[in-house]
Amino acid sequence: MRPKIYIKDLSDHIGEQVNLKGWLYNKRSSGKVKFLILRDGTGYLQCIVFKGNVSEEVFETADRLSQESSFEITGTVKAEARAVGGVELDATDVKLISDSVDYPITPKEHGIEFLIDKRHLWLRSKRQAAIMKVRHRVVKAIRDFFDERGFTLFDPPVITPNACEGTSTLFEFDYFDLGKAYLTQSGQLYAEAGALALGKVYTFGPTFRAEKSKTRRHLTEFWMVEPEMAFYDLDDDMDLAEEFLEYIVQTVLRECKDELEILERDTSKLKSVKRPFPRISYDEAVEILKKNGTDFEWGNDLGGGDETIISSQFDRPVMVHRYPAEVKAFYMKRDPLNSRVALAVDVLAPEGYGEIIGGSQREDDLDLLISRIKEHNLPQEFFEWYLDLRRFGSVPHSGFGLGLERTVSWICGIEHLRESIPFPRMIYRNTP
Ligand code: 4AD
Ligand code: MG
Repeated sequence: MRPKIYIKDLSDHIGEQVNLKGWLYNKRSSGKVKFLILRDGTGYLQCIVFKGNVSEEVFETADRLSQESSFEITGTVKAEARAVGGVELDATDVKLISDSVDYPITPKEHGIEFLIDKRHLWLRSKRQAAIMKVRHRVVKAIRDFFDERGFTLFDPPVITPNACEGTSTLFEFDYFDLGKAYLTQSGQLYAEAGALALGKVYTFGPTFRAEKSKTRRHLTEFWMVEPEMAFYDLDDDMDLAEEFLEYIVQTVLRECKDELEILERDTSKLKSVKRPFPRISYDEAVEILKKNGTDFEWGNDLGGGDETIISSQFDRPVMVHRYPAEVKAFYMKRDPLNSRVALAVDVLAPEGYGEIIGGSQREDDLDLLISRIKEHNLPQEFFEWYLDLRRFGSVPHSGFGLGLERTVSWICGIEHLRESIPFPRMIYRNTP
C-alpha cells in the first residue's frame, strides 16, 4: 500500500516532496502567486503556487479552482512559523479532481435555517468540523472512562413495548400484529437487567423523545450514555458522576486545543471543572431561587431559567439531589428519611447549559415498585420482566444518564444543540 500523507502529519516531512488530496477551502491571489488553502479533514494548509515554479497549465488550473472543488497537489513542505500548523507547501503540480460550481455556502453570513438546510455541506466549515472532532473525542473519553473502570458495554433495544421516562414524549408506531411499539426514551430499564447480570454496565446510543418544546436544549433524537451499577447508592452515584464529568472535560481540554481555539472557547471556565462539585438538595435550590427574587414554589420541577439561576452561583457543575418524588420518574427510590422526595440527582452545567445528567437510586422493593407503576397509570403487564429484577435477588442499585449533545454544546460553548450532532432532528425538522 502506498502511504498516504495528511496535513496534520506534515511537520514530520519538512523538506520532503509530498502529494496531498483534498478540497479548496479558500484562495487568494496576488499577481504571480496563488495561495490555495487546502483542507483534507485533518487540517488546513496554505499552498503557494508561484508562476515561475510551475507550468502554464498548472498555474491555470490553480487559477480556476473554486471553493470546495477537489484537487491533488504536489510540492515541498516548508517550515513557516506564521502558518497554522507551522508549515506551508511550495507547489510544483496541481490537478483538478472534480469541480464545485457555485458552492452555496460562501464566506458571507448566512441565516441559520439556510445553513441547516445545507447541513451536509455546512459540516465542511471550520467551526462545524471542529465541533464534530470534539464530539468524537467526548465519545471516546466516555468509552475509555467506563472501560477502564470494569464496566461492560450493554446495548439496549431501540424498539420497546413501554415508556421509561413518562408517556408524553413517546414516538409511537404499529408493530405488526403486536399492537403499538415505541422508540426508546432511555435504555435504563434494560441497563438495570444488565447491572444485575454483570455488576456494572453502560448503555450508549440514540434515544428519542417527541419533545413538543422548541428550546435550544431539546432534540427529538439524541445520544445518551447510561451507566448502571449494582450495590451503588445515591452518594456512590454522585461520586461517579462527578469523576466522569471531570474526566471528560479535562480530556477534551488536553486533547482538543486546536478545536477549542477555532471555536474561540473561553477555556478558563472549563479548567475549573474539577472535583469536588457542590452538592445541594432541592430544598436548598429552592432557597437560592427565592433569594434571587423568583416566586418558585416547592414541588415544581426546575425549569431552564431556574437551572440557570442555580448554576450561576457556582464555577463548576452543581449536583441537585432529592427532588419532590411527584416530578420524577416512577422507578426512583424514595428517601427513607423523607418519603416526599426521591433519591434523584440532576447535574446542572455552568454557563446556563442546564441539566446534562439525570440519575437516581432505583426502587428495589417489589411492592413499592408495583404501586408506583399503578400511580403512574403504566401497563403493569409490560413491566413484569422489570419487576422480576425485584423478585429474584433484588439489590440496591443506581445509575444516571448523560446527554451527549448537551455535553458537547457546553464544552464547545455553542448556543443551540442542533450544531452538536451531524444531522439534528427537532420538532420542526427531519431533513437533510
Ligand atoms: O433526565 P433524563 O430524562 O434521564 C433518563 O432518561 C434516565 N433514564 C437516565 C438514567 O438514570 N439512566 O435524561 C438524561 C439526560 C438529560 O440530563 C439530558 O442531558 C439528556 O439526557 N436529554 C436530552 N438531550 C437532548 N434533547 C432532549 N430532548 C433530551 N432529554 C434528555
Ligand atoms: Mg432529567
